[in-house]
Parts: sequence; structure tokens; C-alpha cells
Amino acid sequence: MTRLVVEDLHRRFSDRDVLHGVGFEIAAGETVALMGPSGCGKTTLLQIIGLIDRPDAGRVVLGDHEPWSAPSAIRAELRLTWLGFVFQRGNLIDHLSARENVALPAWRAGQSRKAALARADDLLAPLGIRGETPSHVLSIGETQRVAVARALVNRPQLILADEPTGSLDGASARSVLAALLAPGEAAVLLVTHDPDVAARAGRTLHMRDGKLRERA
Ligand SMILES: Nc1ncnc2c1ncn2[C@@H]1O[C@H](COP(=O)(O)OP(=O)(O)O)[C@@H](O)[C@H]1O
Ligand SMILES: [Mg+2]
Repeated sequence: MTRLVVEDLHRRFSDRDVLHGVGFEIAAGETVALMGPSGCGKTTLLQIIGLIDRPDAGRVVLGDHEPWSAPSAIRAELRLTWLGFVFQRGNLIDHLSARENVALPAWRAGQSRKAALARADDLLAPLGIRGETPSHVLSIGETQRVAVARALVNRPQLILADEPTGSLDGASARSVLAALLAPGEAAVLLVTHDPDVAARAGRTLHMRDGKLRERA
């Protein structure tokens, strides 16, 4: 089953065509790496798929939704329940515990406090993180694992990860990737500069001149 279809996307900033006819598909459970030089438009593409930045032209289809033609409330709902996000830095809420950070999107999606916290602990335990740990004492690698757990909490269909291991050393990067790429229902689109990271994904897309290619 197809999770994501992108067709002929265009995005222009001032006088520069950053995305110039980008198209690809991702199936359920597929893990796809996205590579390309700095400034080529990888984050722009993720923000369009992530329903944060509106494309100038083209289509994004998430499952059977066409969110850029839908009301903004539908996009907000899809961002919360259909998509999971992991950024280069965890962006956790400092004064909350690890468990509360993970539970937050589940509360917002309507789960009870108790159910959301239990789900958070279930996600954190295999990642080796105690739920009650205050976020501000976590290492960068632990922070990223919490961010992965948070991205998974509402059982998203598609996870968008923008250089999630970009700030990590080798060992931390490996444990974050293991959590992110664990076989599951969710498809994963992962931006990386690291060929070893890309090699862990099922396939790699290369962005150049505003378009995508399957080979470097
Ligand atoms: N909101 C914006 N306004 C103007 N220019 C932007 C904006 N977002 C990105 N850009 C430009 O678009 C290009 C692609 O940026 P980005 O998608 O962040 O690249 P990458 O993630 O591949 O490094 C860059 O030249 C960047 O300066
Ligand atoms: Mg970027």
C-alpha cells in the first residue's frame, strides 16, 4: 500500500526554483534516505510533505488524503496523528520529563493522561531511557531517542526525519537509527549526509537541481 505520493512539486523562493518537478512514492513500511548537498532543498521538501510549507505547484497524497487541497484543520489533524517528525535536535520541552514529552502528542490527540504516559513508558523502555528522567539532564543521543519515541507515540503512517543523527557520534547515531528504522507499519523518509546512515535505509533518493534521482 502506498503511504506517500509526491507529484511534480515546485517551490520557489525569491527568484530561485528550489524544487523543480519533484516526484516519488513511498510504500508502507519502506525506509527511504534522502541525500543531496546543503541548500539543495531537502528540508523544504520535508516541510511540504510535513504540511508546514505550502508548495507553489504539485501534489502531495498521504494515504487517501490530499492535504494541500483540504481545510487547515485536516492538515493539523494529519500532522498530529498521521505524521511523525524528528529533527536534527530533539526540541524537547525542557521542564517536562522524558515520558511527558513523549506523551504530549498523545494527550493532544485525545488519549487519557494515564494511557498516554503508559504508552510513553512502553516506547522509552526498549530505548534504555527512564520515563521520569528530566529532559534537561538527557545527553544529545538520549534526547534524540526520546524524540523518536515522541514521533512514534500516535502510531504515524509516515515519519519524516531531517538529519536526525547529524549532531551525534557513531554509537549514539546507531541507537537512534535502530529506533527509527525498526521494522514497523510506518514508512520513514530520512534526510542524511552520511552514506553509512543512508545504507541502512531500503533505498536512497538523491536531490540535485531541484529534482530527485534514484542514483547519485
Ligand atoms: N522560507 C524561506 N525563504 C527563503 N528562502 C528559503 C526558505 N527556506 C529555504 N530557503 C532557501 O531554499 C534553499 C533550500 O533550503 P533547504 O531546503 O533548507 O536546503 P537543505 O535542507 O537541502 O540544506 C536554500 O537556498 C535556502 O536558503
Ligand atoms: Mg536541511
